[in-house]
Amino acid sequence: MKESEIKKDYIKKINELKKHNKLYFENSSPEISDKDYDIIKIEIQNLERKFPYLKSDFSPSSSLGFAPSKNFQKSSHRVKMLSLSNAFDIEDLKNFEKKIFNYLNKKVKFEYSVEPKIDGISASLTYKDGFLVLGTSRGDGSTGEVITENLKTIKDIPQKISSKDFPKDIDIRGEVFIKKNDFNKLKNAFANPRNAASGSLRQKNPEQTKKIPLNFVAYTYGFFESKKIKKQSDFLSSLQKWGFKINKHNKVLKTIYDLVNFHRKFERDRFELEYDVDGLVYKINSLELQKRLGFTANSPRWAIAHKFSADSAYSQIKDINIQVGRTGALTPVARIKPVNIGGVVVSNATLHNEDEIIRKDIRLGDTIKIERAGDVIPHVVLVDLKKRGRNSKKFIFPNNCPSCGSETIKEFNKTTKKHDAVRRCTNEGYDCEKIAIEKIKHFISKDAMNIDGLGKKVVENFWDLKLIRFPQDIYNLDYNKISNLEGWGDLSVSNLKYSVDQSKKVSLDKFLYAIGIRHIGIENAKLLAEHVKSIKNFIILVNKNKLNEFLNIDGIGETQINSLKKFFENKSNYKIVEKLSSLLNISDIKLNKEGKLLYNTFMFTGKLSNMSRAEAKSLIEENSGSVVSSVNKKLKYLIIGEKPTNRKVQEAKELGIKILSQKEWLKLLN
Ligand code: IVH
Repeated sequence: MKESEIKKDYIKKINELKKHNKLYFENSSPEISDKDYDIIKIEIQNLERKFPYLKSDFSPSSSLGFAPSKNFQKSSHRVKMLSLSNAFDIEDLKNFEKKIFNYLNKKVKFEYSVEPKIDGISASLTYKDGFLVLGTSRGDGSTGEVITENLKTIKDIPQKISSKDFPKDIDIRGEVFIKKNDFNKLKNAFANPRNAASGSLRQKNPEQTKKIPLNFVAYTYGFFESKKIKKQSDFLSSLQKWGFKINKHNKVLKTIYDLVNFHRKFERDRFELEYDVDGLVYKINSLELQKRLGFTANSPRWAIAHKFSADSAYSQIKDINIQVGRTGALTPVARIKPVNIGGVVVSNATLHNEDEIIRKDIRLGDTIKIERAGDVIPHVVLVDLKKRGRNSKKFIFPNNCPSCGSETIKEFNKTTKKHDAVRRCTNEGYDCEKIAIEKIKHFISKDAMNIDGLGKKVVENFWDLKLIRFPQDIYNLDYNKISNLEGWGDLSVSNLKYSVDQSKKVSLDKFLYAIGIRHIGIENAKLLAEHVKSIKNFIILVNKNKLNEFLNIDGIGETQINSLKKFFENKSNYKIVEKLSSLLNISDIKLNKEGKLLYNTFMFTGKLSNMSRAEAKSLIEENSGSVVSSVNKKLKYLIIGEKPTNRKVQEAKELGIKILSQKEWLKLLN
């Protein structure tokens, strides 16, 4: 071949690659498989090797102009981006207030900032000295994706703010969304407005984002230090003054009855709005009260989302399958004739558990009413008995696990003195296939190891191919083999490898949560991690059979201890933890060396005034102290409230432990 022909051939291949890069990265609609894409890349590289005079900025061997990886850069949020708990009716709202009163140990009067909950994608904007310097998505709540350039294309987002009173350093948070009529023009590309907003924001090329008309309303802050602003409603007014859009329906209301009335009206009128709203957010207006109330693992105690009522439709049960969860729970699921409920096609509905099937007498072939509310799993509300066929038979719930055949049981709950509604497979380990798969799915999930290149479907696929049997197998994957699988190419394999590698560095609490011990959720995993400080210490406690030591942690009880013991009695679980601890880089819990109460342990007895135990505990922990639940030599202070337990006071005196009144203790804290 002549040099000119070789060059022509080369340019043709480069142009082909350019076209597919654009389809993949900009339009998110590839026309060829990853594998065919890789073939083009390899052919180009071979030509370049053979004929060194061939060069292009768009060559895969040049970084210039070549599309970057699918992974966005990550950035950890200075203040976590949490979600909200949901309320559906007045009872839920009363309960929400009750919990607040309990936490504060007092009935207080407060106002609510009421804000429409737009169904979009939340984003965080960091401004320094008035300039937008960073924009991120929510991600897993702790770490988001850096999408600054894409966010900058949204006209509602100011890039420079010159107001004198605009804070020097602040994260502004709000919702990115698309209006209903703009969505209608894009209908073929996305399933719903929310997906359209998210798809647009995650385009690799900001020019693409610009083409889809996105909007932004601001509603809260992340990092922010201010003494002047005392109310959420004042913060919202400031946002507007600074140049942000805020929702024009924001309001301040006082009582639950005001909230419910406003909700009723808004729910009726919401269809006239230009955008989708899936509920109202109620926030305690006083920022000082918000600060006192703080957060649980996932959501603030001072806010709640009051959802609009569910959409419903009728359909028919085609089949009932029993799913096995990671803790062995058997969940019946109805496969129904697909039906459109409020814009979403539903083909499954949860039947919750055996008792629910018995109570509602749900049978195969039944015509049922299904409800779906926002992101909640659709469920059966009623059976239309008139439509039931003559030959219909009661559904018999299996006595054995449909996955491994083991015996199933309904546990006896000591607190409620009743048998659980849920039936469980007694094989809690990796010997039951379905449990094992679910355990691995939990292991990779967002709040656990957060391996986003390895989704649930991939886990199932890798399981079928025998590539994965235990969590540790994820760290010994045969990438060569994977790149030969249908649907996998260089690019997706390198993305997978990247996210697996990234996950190797993990904090102890996330790791303890990830291994999936029943009754050890995120919150309890944190308590255990803070107590043992390192994985090494944790394994020592397991080896020495000293798990009872955890009983000393305020918040850990017998249920958790028994579950931990049961977990480690299973030798395969023990081996998994040991293997993973050598494969991973599990970081120790560092002491916050700044708090006034460092190395001090406290215990409470009796009722505190104007403060709940929970708030007292979080005050101590914020100042680096710890709270224990029994009097022993390790205890430094016993704090006594009203009507203390005499035995505890006596024991403390005998051991020479300092005894403080609530006042004296608060003095320690200033
Ligand atoms: S406040 C910690 N205010 O709802 C406080 N969120 O489930 C959480 N949302 O991720 C955010 N409108 O995407 C807040 N006025 C509003 C909101 C709002 C919509 C979304 C947001 C958040 C989700 C919480």
